[in-house]
Amino acid sequence: MNIKQLLTGCRAELIELYRDFHAHPELGFQEFRTQDKVSTYLSAIGLEPQQIAGTGVVAELRGSRPGPTILLRSDMDALPITEETALPFASQHPGIMHACGHDGHMAILLVTAKLLNSMSAELPGTVKILFQPNEEDAGAWKVVAEGVMTDPKVDVAFGLHLWSQCPTGTIDIVDGPQMAASYYFDLSIKGRGGHAGFAHESIDPIYISTLIIQAVQGIQTREVNALDPAVIMFTRMNAGSSATIIPEEAKLQGSIRFLYSNGKKLFKRFESVVKQICTAYSASYELSFKKGNDLLTNVPEIAACARAAAAEVVGPEKVTTEIRTMAGEDFSDYLVHAPGAFAFVGCHNPANGVSYPHHHPRFTIDEEALAIGVELHLQCASKFLKCAG
Ligand code: NI
Repeated sequence: MNIKQLLTGCRAELIELYRDFHAHPELGFQEFRTQDKVSTYLSAIGLEPQQIAGTGVVAELRGSRPGPTILLRSDMDALPITEETALPFASQHPGIMHACGHDGHMAILLVTAKLLNSMSAELPGTVKILFQPNEEDAGAWKVVAEGVMTDPKVDVAFGLHLWSQCPTGTIDIVDGPQMAASYYFDLSIKGRGGHAGFAHESIDPIYISTLIIQAVQGIQTREVNALDPAVIMFTRMNAGSSATIIPEEAKLQGSIRFLYSNGKKLFKRFESVVKQICTAYSASYELSFKKGNDLLTNVPEIAACARAAAAEVVGPEKVTTEIRTMAGEDFSDYLVHAPGAFAFVGCHNPANGVSYPHHHPRFTIDEEALAIGVELHLQCASKFLKCAG
């Protein structure tokens, strides 16, 4: 099969699909119109889409003979951001925006499904086409809980993200840890309120909070190996109501992220610092953690296979192994159950007015990257079905 030939004629459809998804963004687990559009498209090309995890969609594409099963996954959800792009196909839903590229991922995977289906007579095995809801709040667990990795068991999982830190025409796939494990914390420091002029009669939770914020930085810089990336970030602090009152309580939120295995001991050290500072100043505390994403780790053999596929798409000199990020990605949930790899497909192109980062109100993608995403999926599917077989 000649994949580049197959792609000719799909560019207009790709852009149309992307722009339609972009104009109609929906938040996580509320992707109803999106789900309907995806299902309708997959049915129209002859597949049998099934609902999964509420607003998700999965379809199986069977080759002409037995072989391995691979999973290709797109996310579906948008973000609670008011769009400021002024594009003619900007969001029609106030306060909601596709500001991460998931609209592009869906267009890419739909056209991939159509082209793969047209060549199914040449393919062995099975390709599971998965549209997953609620990536922004780690929704993959629900899709996994509903059995997407089994029956038939997935042998290789592959996903991609259009990536604003890479120029259009490049593809980045590293070996090993690629996107960080992320956990969120809620911390409440409880002191004793009182008059700002009689601080000696109070226990000031604001002062104690500042000591904690300072002290935990030492965990990152003095206790973790400098070659093991770790971040402890406070992102929210609420306390007080007036210039004259010392409050009873200060509430803090933030996240702990790490890009290496074995990072969970950061939690213990974090709590130990909180506890000892509170004890030193006669305050008490409550601390809870919520899991975001697991560490996303590419399996080297699969990543190498994906880079070989990428080289067919953009040429070997445009395939890089540079991007590791402290952002999280719930594609990691699939990699707990099957080996796989995740690719960053460059979509940054200031010449086309595309220069804002993910999650920015003016974020947009270079539409030239869409066809690259389709071709990468097709090349990967073809190689994985051969390699895994
Ligand atoms: Ni994203």
